[in-house]
Amino acid sequence: MKLPAAPEDYRAIARRRLPHFLYEYLDGGAGSEQTMRRNLGDLQSIALRQRVMVDVEDVDTSTSLFGKSWTMPVALAPVGLAGMYARRGEVQAAKAAAHAGVPFTLSTVSACPLREVAAATAEPFWLQLYMIRDRAFMADLLDQAVAANCSALVFTVDMPVPGIRYRDYRSGLAGASGFAGAARRFGQGMMRPRWAWDVGVRGRPHQLGNVARVLGGKSGMDDFFAWMRSNFDPSISWKDLEWVRGRWPGPLIVKGVLDPNDALEAIANGADGIVVSNHGGRQLDGAPSSAAVLPAIAEAVAGRTALLADGGVRSGADIVRMLALGADAVMIGRPWVYALAAAGERGVQHLLSLLKQELRVAMTLTGCARISEIGRRTIAGPLAER
Ligand code: FNR
Repeated sequence: MKLPAAPEDYRAIARRRLPHFLYEYLDGGAGSEQTMRRNLGDLQSIALRQRVMVDVEDVDTSTSLFGKSWTMPVALAPVGLAGMYARRGEVQAAKAAAHAGVPFTLSTVSACPLREVAAATAEPFWLQLYMIRDRAFMADLLDQAVAANCSALVFTVDMPVPGIRYRDYRSGLAGASGFAGAARRFGQGMMRPRWAWDVGVRGRPHQLGNVARVLGGKSGMDDFFAWMRSNFDPSISWKDLEWVRGRWPGPLIVKGVLDPNDALEAIANGADGIVVSNHGGRQLDGAPSSAAVLPAIAEAVAGRTALLADGGVRSGADIVRMLALGADAVMIGRPWVYALAAAGERGVQHLLSLLKQELRVAMTLTGCARISEIGRRTIAGPLAER
């Protein structure tokens, strides 16, 4: 496949290639998608301050976080079931991230199990963990992450229940007929090899990732979704972070914070990093965008932990915007999965190289030769600090 010109082009390609219900699951948000739109709108509304005649011949996009050096301040966000968007999708994405020199985060509810990703990539990756009612499942996954040398744990706290995503009802994915029904309705097309798709209607256990073990031998995607629905734990509280902290020796990143007080709680309970996130607008519709709350959270955190942010990052300029608002790095969610669906590992690699190129140009034009130079000064308009 001929690779597209711009990062945003991958979305349209993914839309053409994917079964409708899979595209909608990826592209959609909660409720009437106000928060999802805010993520994009608020970030894009921030004007960058162009500077001229500053010597920026030697621009360096690299940064260092959690004791590791990254080629740019971008990590691939955890996306559940990403492995259904291309053959062994999470393995392909992890390889692309390793090649690009940025972290890959494997979701708890990935299609490829942790050990498969660990066996396929030499580079350590991050594991994302949800609070699951079945604590033995969590403890086992944490043991696997330690054994696989995962370099950070991303503990996602904004999913005590899954948000209501109407596109999944409209597409049939979340309705009475479930995954199997949506897939059948889509017809045989989903099995065409051009989708490089290998999770069938009767997903075999090894295709149900980390959850396969607890589902047992003969289960399908609908059992998988039922497990997900019944296993998110709404009783989650800060005490649980302590429980996780006690079982995880490495960097612990709390993902899904939108309030400065919650950021302070996370720090008090042992977090080494925080991701300002509304889950890509997939949880509380009506919540503010990440960009809107980031400055206050950055002020509260005051450099005591690493601060990441996600939600609506689509370009190199968006990376600069999030950093200017106070983030040390960003996560990207949907964009890498669009690229994976469009062109597999090559697509994700290409997307990351495009983002890096855009970041370099945006840094040059804002007069920032180093990531550490990006700050409020880099913004034009009301939020600016001169
Ligand atoms: C997600 N996200 C997510 N987060 C998480 O911690 N664990 C998960 O399993 C998932 N699954 C998931 C599936 C899909 C289809 C999407 C789109 C998102 C949220 C994700 O990590 C990230 O916070 C957002 O995607 C960031 O917003 P953008 O970059 O998609 O705008």
